[in-house]
Amino acid sequence: MQDKSKAWSGRFNEPVAELVKRYTASVEFDQRLAEFDIQGSLAHARMLGAQDIIANEDVAAIERGLAEILEEIRTGRFEWLLDLEDVHLNIEKRLTDKIGDAGKRLHTGRSRNDQVATDVRLWLRATVDDVLVRIGKLQQSIVELAEKHADTVMPGFTHLQVAQPVTFGHHLLAYFEMLKRDAERFADARRRINRLPLGAAALAGTSYPIDRERVARELGFDDVCENSLDAVSDRDFAIEFTSAAALVMTHLSRFSEELILWSSPRFGFIDIADRFCTGSSIMPQKKNPDVPELVRGKTGRVNGHLIALLTLMKSQPLAYNKDNQEDKEPLFDTADTLLVTLEIYADMLRGITVDTAAMRLAAAEGFATATDLADYLVKKGLPFRDAHEAVARAVRHAEAQNCDLADLSLADLKTFSSLVEADIYEVLTLEGSLASRNHIGGTAPQQVREALGRARVYLAKTE
Ligand code: ARG
Repeated sequence: MQDKSKAWSGRFNEPVAELVKRYTASVEFDQRLAEFDIQGSLAHARMLGAQDIIANEDVAAIERGLAEILEEIRTGRFEWLLDLEDVHLNIEKRLTDKIGDAGKRLHTGRSRNDQVATDVRLWLRATVDDVLVRIGKLQQSIVELAEKHADTVMPGFTHLQVAQPVTFGHHLLAYFEMLKRDAERFADARRRINRLPLGAAALAGTSYPIDRERVARELGFDDVCENSLDAVSDRDFAIEFTSAAALVMTHLSRFSEELILWSSPRFGFIDIADRFCTGSSIMPQKKNPDVPELVRGKTGRVNGHLIALLTLMKSQPLAYNKDNQEDKEPLFDTADTLLVTLEIYADMLRGITVDTAAMRLAAAEGFATATDLADYLVKKGLPFRDAHEAVARAVRHAEAQNCDLADLSLADLKTFSSLVEADIYEVLTLEGSLASRNHIGGTAPQQVREALGRARVYLAKTE
């Protein structure tokens, strides 16, 4: 029995098993490529017309039919059929139903292999542009918060132990830098995404006198993929995107971890606006930082997609294999997760209130200026190792007295080194410590303001 309902069923003796149909179909998830599929088809059809491969009346009919289909899709009136496998065959079938033979001519010199690679690249290019805008917005909101806190003292940590005082603005701008590199990675990946596969056809190119450059130009690609086998088969561009996304998520998972710690009453540094938190159904006192926790959790999901795509590509012989149909769900979910995370993060940072007193207290309590005391002694001629030793003894003493270094009397401090003079208190204060780290990349409030100035210029340029 022959099933002629499929675009490729001519050579088959029996219809595809129902389960296999469902197993191999991708229309449920690849229909989101529809607009790009139509864009690609329009450019392809116009090229076929310009090259006299199909008649101009056919091109006109295709343009009209695809415009109607686009409208049907946008208004939710398009009926997607699992029997038609994927987005490409669904649209082509509808086109043929509408305009007859002209619709059947659209696929001249083309294969779904170069078609799907083109669609994914078009979709991904638009997605990258969206990601870049949202990274910029998140950076903007980081800058706004940092501007309010260029002078705010907090403890800087190593090993999660109080290390040296830093400004909160400086701490926030560390994330600005990470996101700047993330944006660079996406912009760089975009250059390789933005190449046209169409013309590669199934794998070897086509015998029609096509004009690939024309199609590339119309679709806004920088160039054509130079090898047909490579063009239809490799998905490295999707892997690059996902890898860049995994890094953004990794950076935001670090930020999230800090927000979670800081908002815990043990730290009490910040409060996250209620609209980003939930309560507990059993413990009435609780306010949970759900959003940062989910960002931390969703990082695992995106990392998983990266591994999925790498594994999908691994060992695939040239050229196209159906394995590649599995690129879409991880890729789409990566984009969805990343985009919504960036958006919610920018908003969440605006809803953060800072308890500057709690931050200051934590810095003051942690002997955060011990290094400053050592540096003071070194500047007076003591070798650093001896200074380190003297300060360690002073810290132990202060600890026993249950006070900070700055609370010790001058006479007390002198017992650890005769080099200590009254000016020591300028160094032992948090402000003195901060102000002294006054070089590019340092935490001094003046440097934070300069870094913010540079950040503003950067954001104005990327807008
Ligand atoms: N749905 C397919 C995919 O996503 C389109 C390409 C199918 N090509 C083929 N030779 N079966 O990869």
